[in-house]
Amino acid sequence: MVFVGLDCLQQTAEHMLPRLFRDYVAGGAHGEVTVLANRNAFKKWAIVPRCLCNVSQVSISTQWLDYECAAPFMLAPVGFLGMMRYGADFMAARASAKTKIPFCVSTFSINALEDICAVEGAHVLAQIYVFRDREITRDMINRARQCGVSTLVLTVDTPITPLRPRDEKNGFRRLTHPSLGQLVSFAQAWRWSLGMMRHGMPVLGNLQPYGMGRTLLEQAKTAASQIDPSLTWKDLEWLRAQWGGKLVVKGVMHPDDAVQCVAVGADSVMVSNHGGRQLDPAPATLDVLPDIVASIGPAGSVVMDSGIRRGADVVCALAQGSSLVGLGRPLAWALAAGGEAALIEMIGGLQGEIRDIMALAGITSIEKLHAAGTTLLRRC
Ligand code: FNR
Repeated sequence: MVFVGLDCLQQTAEHMLPRLFRDYVAGGAHGEVTVLANRNAFKKWAIVPRCLCNVSQVSISTQWLDYECAAPFMLAPVGFLGMMRYGADFMAARASAKTKIPFCVSTFSINALEDICAVEGAHVLAQIYVFRDREITRDMINRARQCGVSTLVLTVDTPITPLRPRDEKNGFRRLTHPSLGQLVSFAQAWRWSLGMMRHGMPVLGNLQPYGMGRTLLEQAKTAASQIDPSLTWKDLEWLRAQWGGKLVVKGVMHPDDAVQCVAVGADSVMVSNHGGRQLDPAPATLDVLPDIVASIGPAGSVVMDSGIRRGADVVCALAQGSSLVGLGRPLAWALAAGGEAALIEMIGGLQGEIRDIMALAGITSIEKLHAAGTTLLRRC
């Protein structure tokens, strides 16, 4: 499969997946205004070509926290990723190892963190939530430590799960047994179903020690409601004290919150609106990024996700102060469309686009891209 852009990959993925998971990946909260806003924000910026700059050598590798990244992006945590096709969690880990792109494993992964981390050379980060039962969170932190994970990503933008109309329509997080409509859709997506069912219906293996349901649909119904909605800054302090490694706080959209995260000891702040799956309408992440970068100063490491689809989006976000960006849905689509090979193809395709754009903008390294900043851009 040759990578010619994410639209094509998305189409193939949507053709392969049953409706339940197609909608789960594509959907957003309420009116899905934020999903669109995330994309539209990038369309307001153009990158100005420069000439005669000697761009015969362009390096796009960069360092972020403990990770030597081949390119300035990472694979963001995507719950139920292993439902994109059988073994998808491992495919992502292997692609991470082969491409040197970090992969953040979701709390809601089909395979256990221990098994994913066993993939040799994978650059794994572990995403966690603080659950109502702190013992679960404490155990997950210990598990990450025992797996040798150096960075925890604490997601803080999900005190509740808002209505996501597509999931609601499909009964996702509501039904504990597949409906007739779902069974029909599984039959239509027969290649997906054959691949999955041959191995038995998967469950969220990462949560299995905590008894949140016996089947995947039961777990889907229970797990999100176990995230503690009463979290405060005290809990972030608690978590910081529990975890000696690097800590990223994901889901920060306000400069004051970013300042507070750094004060509590976060090593990095991830500007994210969960890909438009939480507050709707929320601002696009690209629109709030500059204020957050300004609020925590040049030493603060800010990363962002939500709406990144092309190399130009990566360059635009970095020019506005993000150290790195995350890809959520593109990861899921690539795995659904063509497994590990398609994901590696997509990563290579994005790297090529970033290289092209940097060369045409007269920039030869990520360091120089950051130094040039918004002088590279023109608002249109
Ligand atoms: C997510 N995201 C997410 N984030 C997180 O911290 N833990 C999780 O388990 C999940 N699960 C999840 C499932 C699906 C299907 C999607 C699409 C997203 C959010 C994700 O990490 C990231 O913030 C967004 O996906 C970024 O937006 P784009 O790249 O999808 O536009």
